Amino acid sequence: MAHTLDVEYARSQFPALKSGFIYADNAGGSQITQTSIDLIVDYLSNTNVQLGADYSVSVSSTQRVISAAEEARKLFGAEDKDEIVFGPSSTANLENLARGLEKDIQEGDEFIITGEHEANCGAWKKLAERRGAVIKYWHSTPTNPNNPYSLSLKVEDLLPLVSAKTRIVAFTATSNLLGSIVPVQAITKAVRAEAAAKGARKVEVSIDCVAYAPHRRMDVKAWDIDFCVFSFYKVYAPHVSALYVRGAALNASVSSIVHHFLPGARSDKLQPGGPGYETVYGTTSVIPYLLSLTPAKDLDATFAAIAAHEIKLVSTLLGYLTAPEQYARGIRVVGIEEPSVDRVPTISFVVVGERAMRSKDVVRVFDERGGIGIRYGHFYAYTLGSRLPPPVVPDDCVVRVSLVHYNTLEEVEKIIAVFKEIFA
Ligand SMILES: Cc1ncc(COP(=O)(O)O)c(C=O)c1O
Repeated sequence: MAHTLDVEYARSQFPALKSGFIYADNAGGSQITQTSIDLIVDYLSNTNVQLGADYSVSVSSTQRVISAAEEARKLFGAEDKDEIVFGPSSTANLENLARGLEKDIQEGDEFIITGEHEANCGAWKKLAERRGAVIKYWHSTPTNPNNPYSLSLKVEDLLPLVSAKTRIVAFTATSNLLGSIVPVQAITKAVRAEAAAKGARKVEVSIDCVAYAPHRRMDVKAWDIDFCVFSFYKVYAPHVSALYVRGAALNASVSSIVHHFLPGARSDKLQPGGPGYETVYGTTSVIPYLLSLTPAKDLDATFAAIAAHEIKLVSTLLGYLTAPEQYARGIRVVGIEEPSVDRVPTISFVVVGERAMRSKDVVRVFDERGGIGIRYGHFYAYTLGSRLPPPVVPDDCVVRVSLVHYNTLEEVEKIIAVFKEIFA
């Protein structure tokens, strides 16, 4: 049974939302629930010691971190919590992963990457440089001939890049600039079949879920991927990132870098369901929040309800931005223009033509008014940004409005009202 999201209930869980400020830069970082805030304060007040020792406070501290790993496991849909690695950010996690893979990369190996966020490009580019591997780009291309900015990734552009030398394929499940959802499972399947047909030795797939995880359910097992990363601070929790490394890759591909991948102390200290497990549910508490969003208390139901609410936000904002008047005014959506459940409410655009405007100047109006937070720039998707057709200045790049399930239609209407004044 489909459940409707109770947005007022969701909002009530976030102290920051009580101010009435319109948070519309959520792809940069979401707000955090009161429960997560309380857990952080409690963790730092009562269990802030080194993990893995046998004294009581360290045992509790270890339990809490392990339960957060269990939470990440569930969010990833992974098999085992020992496949989860925490790090300060997804950028750092992917850099560590690339360092850990170093010994298993041979000269001439090929990495296929997208020009999206540098977190999932830079680490592979640097690894390629260190090991003499070759980088190939899977670029997004326009979907609407009348809008050169209507970019999306297409599997038919990817498959010709696969060769007998393909070793790593790294792409985003959702671009933090384009907002469209990439069908990870179908693409991975197609890549693996193509690689097998061409005689590739070993292909590992790395998915950047940072801009996806706040909106849709991850499923690393069904997707059949080897590495996956997301940032809890964009999923309503503290500034920490979780990396999934498939058990097989932990054994066969990744070497240990310092205490990267899982101090052995972990699993034996906490039994799921054992004493203290529920009461100290992690240091993040995302799952209890997500489960509380629908009566079903089930993650699939929650993400379905989130998607159903988000499409209303997407339709309203895209409806305004893609209307004929806005097209004539020079507004071009950057990304897929049609609203659908395959698009999250991360919406970017540029203003081109005779009355072109810099993205910076559009956003400045919002900042001068106050009350609404949106942002402009390349959002670290340098390669994608620098490939946008003129007259987009790389640093100025796009205006981005990024919403999540706690944003309301009224907020979207207020954002549109400001755009109407700016573009009048
Ligand atoms: C798609 C995407 N990937 C990676 C990152 C990097 O995440 P982190 O800030 O945790 O390094 C971001 C951050 O905005 C992102 O949007």
